[in-house]
Amino acid sequence: MKDQHSDNDPNWKRDFPIEKTKATHVSRREFAKFLGLLSGALAISNGGIVIKSLLFPKEGLKGEHFVCNVSDVAVGEMFQFEIEGTKVVPYILIRLEEDRWRAFEQKCTHLACAVRYRADLNQIECPCHQGFFDAESGRVIAGPPPRPLPQLAVIIREDKVYVTGKEEQEQENIS
Ligand code: FES
Repeated sequence: MKDQHSDNDPNWKRDFPIEKTKATHVSRREFAKFLGLLSGALAISNGGIVIKSLLFPKEGLKGEHFVCNVSDVAVGEMFQFEIEGTKVVPYILIRLEEDRWRAFEQKCTHLACAVRYRADLNQIECPCHQGFFDAESGRVIAGPPPRPLPQLAVIIREDKVYVTGKEEQEQENIS
C-alpha cells in the first residue's frame, strides 16, 4: 500500500498512522449499539427518579409561617416569598378577591421556570413554554406541565397572612 504520509506531515501523524477513512468510519451496527446504550442509560436514570420519589415522598410544609400583612397585597396582585428555615423554594401568594387567597410553589412543574399570576386571565402562566395553571386549584389548563402546581393553605389572622402545608390543614379540619 502506498504511504499516504508526506515529509510535511506533523510527527504525530507518522507515529500514529491511522487512515482517515478508518478513523471517521462508524458502522451502522456501532451507531445502533451506541444509541441502545444511551437509551438504556436514560431509562435507568428515569426509573431511579421514579423509585426515589415513591420511596421518599416530598415532605409537606410543617407549621404556620408568616408571609406578609394583608395590606401588603392588593386584590388581583401576586406576592413572591420564601420560607426561612426550609429548603429554598420560592412561593407566590395571590389575592384573588378581597378575602380569597391562594399560595403555590413558584417553580413550574415542567422545567422549573418561575410562574406568575395573570390577573387578566385569572390564571398562572409559565412564560417559558406557555404553560397555564388554574389560579384556584393549580391544575394544568394548557401547555406542557405534567402536574398541578403544589399548593399551600392560606390562613388570615388579625390582618396577617400565614401559610401552612395543605395536608397539615386538612388533618386539622378532620380532627
Ligand atoms: S417550564 Fe413551564 S411550561 Fe416549560
